[in-house]
Amino acid sequence: MTADTNSTLTERLKETVSFLNGKGVKDPEIGIILGSGLNDFADNIADPVVLSYDDIPNMQSGKVSDHRGQLVFGIYKGKRVVMLAGRFHYYESGDMQKAAYPARVLVALGVKRFIITNAAGCINKTWKVGSLMLIKDHINLSGNNPLIGDNIQEFGPRFPDMTYTYNRELRSRLKEAAAEEGIDLCEGVYAMFSGPSFETPAEIIFARTIGADAAGMSTVPEAIIANHAGCEIIGISLMTNMAAGILDQPLSGAEVTEAGIKARKAFGRVVDLAIEL
Ligand code: HPA
Repeated sequence: MTADTNSTLTERLKETVSFLNGKGVKDPEIGIILGSGLNDFADNIADPVVLSYDDIPNMQSGKVSDHRGQLVFGIYKGKRVVMLAGRFHYYESGDMQKAAYPARVLVALGVKRFIITNAAGCINKTWKVGSLMLIKDHINLSGNNPLIGDNIQEFGPRFPDMTYTYNRELRSRLKEAAAEEGIDLCEGVYAMFSGPSFETPAEIIFARTIGADAAGMSTVPEAIIANHAGCEIIGISLMTNMAAGILDQPLSGAEVTEAGIKARKAFGRVVDLAIEL
């Protein structure tokens, strides 16, 4: 449903949350944002509450074709979990507020731990398509920030610290848990570009030079909002393609979706482990 632009952010969030509470979406502990090709993970919840973004007040609907545009809530692994199957990317509107709204909804619902997932282009040449990367930090190359504008003090501070955005303790436990199961979990830095055009080879060289291991078009707005609110964050990137210029071939959206489907099992297991931490 489209937002009433005249009402304040706080009012809009209240309206969204009271609608969701009325549908039984109550007191979620964990919020999971599912990236391209990874939306099917939401099918793991038994007896879920499934709500289309179109029916949720103030929620935009995602427009990327393999994204479902659904909020799915239920008990999974003994925890109350809310999943967002599909995101509203920054490149769809050029409006960071819109891109970050679903993360704000998760915070307003009471989520304390965010598991943010995405499909990304692999910049690190020692990894390959299908590699899973635990995000240890990010570089925001979007040129924008969802906290620009009036700060709502009850949500968090004006100048939030970003030093420990991707929770160190959880990362270390997740790496251990993955290693015990023989899952290869890399760790690295995610660079957000605005998209929707993929990066140029020169931009990828630039990103590598400044310390990035993966390139994508999401995650950063949500991580900033969750960190602002003091939530724990785990970020997981699936390398769906080698980033532009690494191989002598063009990039395609279809390749990204296909790799997501192929890596579903390992990805699902890592998200399971992250929920169980
Ligand atoms: N670049 C940016 N975003 C992406 C890519 C990429 O190579 N692959 C999947 N999402």
